Amino acid sequence: MNGLTEAPVWKLLEQHASAVKKTSIAELFANDSQRFKHFSLHQTGLSFDYSKNPITEETLNLLFKLADTCELKKHIQALFSGECVNTTEKLPALHTALRDPRTSGLNVNGTDILPPIHAALDKMANFVSQIHNHTWRGATGRPITDIINLGIGGSDLGPLMAIESLKPYQQTPLRFHFISNVDGYALNHLLTQLNPETSLFIIASKSFSTQETLINAKTILKWIQEKTAPHNPLPQHFLAITAQQKKALQFGIAKENIFPLWDWVGGRFSLCSCIGLSLALAIGMQNFRELLSGAHTLDQHFFKSPWQENMPLILGLLGIWQRNFFQSEAHVILPYDAALKYFPAYLQQLEMESNGKSIRIDNKKVNYATCPIIFGEVGLNGQHAFYQLFHQGTSRFSVDFILSLRNPQHILQHHHQHAIASALSQSKALMQGYRSDVPYKTLNGNHANNILAVDELTPFTLGMLIALYEHKVFVQSVIWQINPFDQWGVEYGKHLSQSIYSALDKNTTESSDANFDSSTQGLIKQYQHMNGDS
Ligand code: F6P
Repeated sequence: MNGLTEAPVWKLLEQHASAVKKTSIAELFANDSQRFKHFSLHQTGLSFDYSKNPITEETLNLLFKLADTCELKKHIQALFSGECVNTTEKLPALHTALRDPRTSGLNVNGTDILPPIHAALDKMANFVSQIHNHTWRGATGRPITDIINLGIGGSDLGPLMAIESLKPYQQTPLRFHFISNVDGYALNHLLTQLNPETSLFIIASKSFSTQETLINAKTILKWIQEKTAPHNPLPQHFLAITAQQKKALQFGIAKENIFPLWDWVGGRFSLCSCIGLSLALAIGMQNFRELLSGAHTLDQHFFKSPWQENMPLILGLLGIWQRNFFQSEAHVILPYDAALKYFPAYLQQLEMESNGKSIRIDNKKVNYATCPIIFGEVGLNGQHAFYQLFHQGTSRFSVDFILSLRNPQHILQHHHQHAIASALSQSKALMQGYRSDVPYKTLNGNHANNILAVDELTPFTLGMLIALYEHKVFVQSVIWQINPFDQWGVEYGKHLSQSIYSALDKNTTESSDANFDSSTQGLIKQYQHMNGDS
């Protein structure tokens, strides 16, 4: 559809927004004692309360009409059936297939793609049991004690987040480590802790060409070769997860140690693929399959539910309502469960790398706002750090609170109750504000916020949360008419970094560097001076 902002429904939404802005959310609550019932959804395992948004029934009807105008149903069908939705890279985006049951069958361009997906899951299962039962041993014959995931972005954040979230489900005394950065700080520290004879390194890189990951992998290989000489550590201590088998073989990874990925899985959508291997090692394959099953349940919910009952659809449309009609600049993710401490970082990549774009699928520039800044933190920490701005600052933003309602085994139940009380208090205060005769004690209120509550944080419900946000992102991309599955914006920085790396080596910035601005040139000189190369 051309001219989103010219569409009659967009104009109606603009008019409607002006009308809604005259009533505060607190007044909407005062006018409807059943507001929670009217504006919340419940699925087995997951509830979504969106009553604290500036919306009426009419708002939702108009937003559903917007989804219809943008032919969302057709786009969802295209996504799930493997059509070429990633138009710049001419690829489908089939992360939903990663959690399709073995027997469901999914024909893409004449081939059923489910058998290789399930063969990869079986390969993971086999490897997990070899590590757990100690039949897999290091080069000197000792069992593995430490698993180190070497990857960045989508090859890091998913397993990092999920292992932290599901610690109570960990089934093994194995220790897990994540190395993503190239600056050497974390790696240097880790190498002093590791026993090379009992450490296993997973090079997780879809492209097998990400500089940070490969530099770290090469440094580690040299380290372990020195420590385990005369043994060859590669077959017992290195695995790769990649779509580029040839490059992994060139690195020296044994063929049977390469776990497949496919070009149709985006990095930030890849946790349910072999990229989840470290997670499977931590929680066991049965729990990993539970996570897939939770994600699949949410996929089916998204695919089949009518708009009025469709959680990812409503979550996505409320984001559009805030961003495009209420000029929200930021959307904040606030888990009230420290287990979810990496969930905001995970969503930052998922949302901003997907929808942080301004060129439409038809190559024209958008004339409306797209993805807001996404950030977040464990809510209780945020309360004592940056909520001041939320309550009394001047910025426009919206919030997702994420709760886990049941405290398994009721360990430290009163702590859990304090966390839930804090979340509900903050949600209420953001919506209602606080009036005081003293101006500096007044809280503005009227801030839109959602509450997403899992019954209990389990592999299954974490899978649901992951798929919920993936589909939210997709809904928004369809409305904004952008391709959420590429990330061309990050390429230039990688290219530039290579030429600056070379320039840092030299005594002076030479002619090829003449394009550098004076700030870059000046700092290159300072670096050379500080590193004894003046
Ligand atoms: O540069 C960005 C990016 O391509 C992300 O999209 C991706 O998740 C990350 O780098 C890591 O990529 P790879 O798995 O190919 O190493």
